[in-house]
Amino acid sequence: MGAMNPNKALWEKGDFTRIAATMRESGEELVATLAIEPGMKVLDVGCGDGTTALPAAKRGAEVLGVDIASNLVEAGNRRAREMGLTNCRFQEGDASDLRALADQSFDLVMSIFGAMFAPKPQEVAKEMVRVTKRGGRIVMGNWIPGDPTLVAQILKISSAYTPPPPEGFVSPMMWGIESHVIERFSGAGIAPANIRFDRETFTFRSSNSPAAIVDDFRKFYGPTMNAFEAAAKSGRAEALQGELEALFKSHNQSGSDTRTTIPATFLRVTVAMP
Ligand SMILES: C[S@@+](CC[C@H](N)C(=O)[O-])C[C@H]1O[C@@H](n2cnc3c(N)ncnc32)[C@H](O)[C@@H]1O
Repeated sequence: MGAMNPNKALWEKGDFTRIAATMRESGEELVATLAIEPGMKVLDVGCGDGTTALPAAKRGAEVLGVDIASNLVEAGNRRAREMGLTNCRFQEGDASDLRALADQSFDLVMSIFGAMFAPKPQEVAKEMVRVTKRGGRIVMGNWIPGDPTLVAQILKISSAYTPPPPEGFVSPMMWGIESHVIERFSGAGIAPANIRFDRETFTFRSSNSPAAIVDDFRKFYGPTMNAFEAAAKSGRAEALQGELEALFKSHNQSGSDTRTTIPATFLRVTVAMP
């Protein structure tokens, strides 16, 4: 199936654990705001190697992480084992088709920069609603298109080096626009009054330089790997590298050229299940 599902192939192509290493602290901080209590049943969709799933388990929740990439599922299970967390497990699955999971089985369904990357956004909304208990919550973290901060700017730069997407392609970034989010959850039976939006900051942190982080994106982040492959075909890989390095450097707020602290704005979506 791997080779036939481009969505899965994209995320298995690299090694997102290398990028996630810069996201651990902000992941913990975000989870701290979710009012997670011991015994709560939590689903993390598009969980990667557990940046938010593991902190939720540390707070005593019963956590299931679902991700389409088998290498990240494996990495998540390894990290849970290493941390001695028996209340957190990871399994392969697709945000747009969570058939392995029963209706209304989670108190909290979270997806931090995860489900936004699945095709068929309408199905994603329906599936997240289906598996959430009445009175439960869905919390999504979504990047915002056209935003001046890091992630939207990486996309903007990269897209200038890649062929236009096929007709009918729906950008994952549409999950960062409130009207689209409302439309998608409305299609899943959720009234707009039950959806709340907040703009928040997620900070990428590393003890390495901004240029070293760009290297990690180039070598390990599927979408950026593809941008570099496309750029190389037109002899522009070094131009892309230069633009990304300038971007990362200009956003670095660490006060040092050898360490990285880059804040980025995201849209937090909270759905209160009636
Ligand atoms: C940017 S990463 C974020 C990972 C993690 N939530 C974090 O914050 O570190 C996006 C994740 O979504 C996963 N993903 C992409 N499409 C998916 C889909 N259709 N179903 C489930 N997971 C998916 C990728 O494999 C990847 O782990």
